[in-house]
Amino acid sequence: MRVTVPDPDQALRAYLYADPAAHSLSPHMHAAAFAHAGLNGTYEARRVLPADLPQAVQALRSAGTLGANLSLPHKETVLPLLDDLSSAARLIGAVNTIVHRGGQLSGDNTDAPGLLAALRDAGLDDAGRGSVVILGAGGAARAAAFVALSDLARPTWVVNRTLGRAQALAADFSGLGNVQAAPAIDVPWEAAQVVINASSAGLNDPDQTPLDATFLARLPAGALIYDMVYKPAETRLIREAHARGLRAHNGLGMLAHQARLAFQAWTGTDVPVQVFLDALRAAGAPR
Ligand SMILES: NC(=O)c1ccc[n+]([C@@H]2O[C@H](COP(=O)([O-])OP(=O)(O)OC[C@H]3O[C@@H](n4cnc5c(N)ncnc54)[C@H](OP(=O)(O)O)[C@@H]3O)[C@@H](O)[C@H]2O)c1
Repeated sequence: MRVTVPDPDQALRAYLYADPAAHSLSPHMHAAAFAHAGLNGTYEARRVLPADLPQAVQALRSAGTLGANLSLPHKETVLPLLDDLSSAARLIGAVNTIVHRGGQLSGDNTDAPGLLAALRDAGLDDAGRGSVVILGAGGAARAAAFVALSDLARPTWVVNRTLGRAQALAADFSGLGNVQAAPAIDVPWEAAQVVINASSAGLNDPDQTPLDATFLARLPAGALIYDMVYKPAETRLIREAHARGLRAHNGLGMLAHQARLAFQAWTGTDVPVQVFLDALRAAGAPR
């Protein structure tokens, strides 16, 4: 879909490259951001097949193009097509934002700082020094590991359906701090302060959960559950956490913050996150 602000002839251009792309809410967020910033810009979600990615990336070098967001299945395969990478993108091994300047393309990962900002909004402070438990071992889990180790500097546990992938993730990030992979049964849940669901369990399925509720029951009362899934708005993980009196949030805040940070990287303008959240809600995102 294409969302355009007035005077498209002179508009700055940004894109989403993904497959599929039609369902994306990003055009709504960025159209609202362009309007709020008083900039003449367009953001178009384009379905790009894997074989067409090199050509699509090359096209971003043209004048007037700000850059692009990347989603499945391009976040990892795009790396060798770019001129440089931020240290976060390099370590995470995934790029969700390409910034174009003067023919040069830089790869960044705004999922990681987007998650950090969403955790702060959800009430995470530095008062406790409890550990972080990450559920999942894909690209989103790698962004979460970067935040847990690099920004929060907390002991970090990685739990995944396939233990070998959690072990590989922990090995990749061991240079950043104390990170271990383990089956859920071996995690010291009583010492955890934050549990981040970075797995796709629960996505579009209200009955699926990445974590047996018996482990939720072992968390301290002040623990925070952050589920990156935002559809449905209330996953089974969030429901079961609330039932135990725990704080629990869905991934809508992260989605809004990663878009805010991409928009800022492209335009230099920090549009308030509420503009992105309002656009998501106006476009029918679950609350
Ligand atoms: N809110 C946001 O802004 C935001 C940003 C990025 C991602 N996300 C969400 O984060 C999730 C993960 O994304 P990704 O890119 O990291 O995906 P990915 O690379 O495909 O990884 C998926 C992970 O989920 C695990 N998993 C899948 N189904 C499961 C199930 N039924 N039970 C337990 N674990 C299961 C996989 O385990 P195996 O290793 O065993 O296959 C794997 O670790 C998605 O739901 C995505 O929408 C949200």
